Amino acid sequence: MSSLSGKQGPRYRHMAEDGAPYETIAVEKLTPIIGAEITGVDIGKLVSDKSRSNRQMDEIHRALAENLVIFFRDQHISPQQHLAFGRKFGELHVHPAAPNDGDPALMKIYADKDSPRANGEGWHTDVSCDLEPPMGSILYIKQCPPRGGDTLFANMYAAYEALSDRMKTYLDGLTARHNGEHYRGQYANYGIKDKESYPYADHPVVRTHPVTGRKALYVNGGFTRYINGIPRDESDGILRYLFQHMANPLFQCRFRWQENSIAFWDNRCAQHHAMWDYWPHTRSGHRVTVKGDRPV
Ligand code: SIN
Repeated sequence: MSSLSGKQGPRYRHMAEDGAPYETIAVEKLTPIIGAEITGVDIGKLVSDKSRSNRQMDEIHRALAENLVIFFRDQHISPQQHLAFGRKFGELHVHPAAPNDGDPALMKIYADKDSPRANGEGWHTDVSCDLEPPMGSILYIKQCPPRGGDTLFANMYAAYEALSDRMKTYLDGLTARHNGEHYRGQYANYGIKDKESYPYADHPVVRTHPVTGRKALYVNGGFTRYINGIPRDESDGILRYLFQHMANPLFQCRFRWQENSIAFWDNRCAQHHAMWDYWPHTRSGHRVTVKGDRPV
């Protein structure tokens, strides 16, 4: 793994400089680089109270842009309020293969003693096999194992900024193929039967975030299969390097769930990895996912 510091100082300079104070929420960073816990918000009230919502919503938006993933504790919301919270950020995305609970946009997150594995293992951004992958995901966990089941998040601006200038130049303008083949066991439930119909998309290897204007690495181990226009063995080598580079703990935070916690992450600049280390216990909740734009 490359060293990220040296005689010239750290190659990564984080954006965690304190900006203007927040007025309607409190924001406590988990690490200087990624993640913040938000207090002073009751999401159930926020979605029904129109008069209060705009100011707080603006600050929640800002906290997400500044921290890439934000966390809320002790939230007591119904599935309808969860969906309504998601809709405040945009139209809702329907997962092409994952099970839902009543509403197609209410994705079920569930693992217990009978599960062969849990959703979301391995580093990924959600559904990057879509032409317009989700901008964000809002996960509400209602039941937690006594230990384990944490989710890790990694900052893809930081990963990009820490690359050498030569590597940045090399990656500039390249696109990569993302495909959703790993959901293959689940498509049949949703009417997709043949391999040719599995979703896939080509996206820039480095994308520019539409809100912050910053560049972020946009390849991930879950979906990205190869870089277009270069020999396959070269693509394999470059992707192997990038996946290893972006998994550096320097770019990460780790969230320890409690019942009734929410994590809201920005898929355009963060990756996540759910730990499946709690068998035979149960972990359960729902994810509401907000549609995004075509990456550029
Ligand atoms: C996911 O990828 O949405 C699952 C994340 C988690 O269960 O922590």
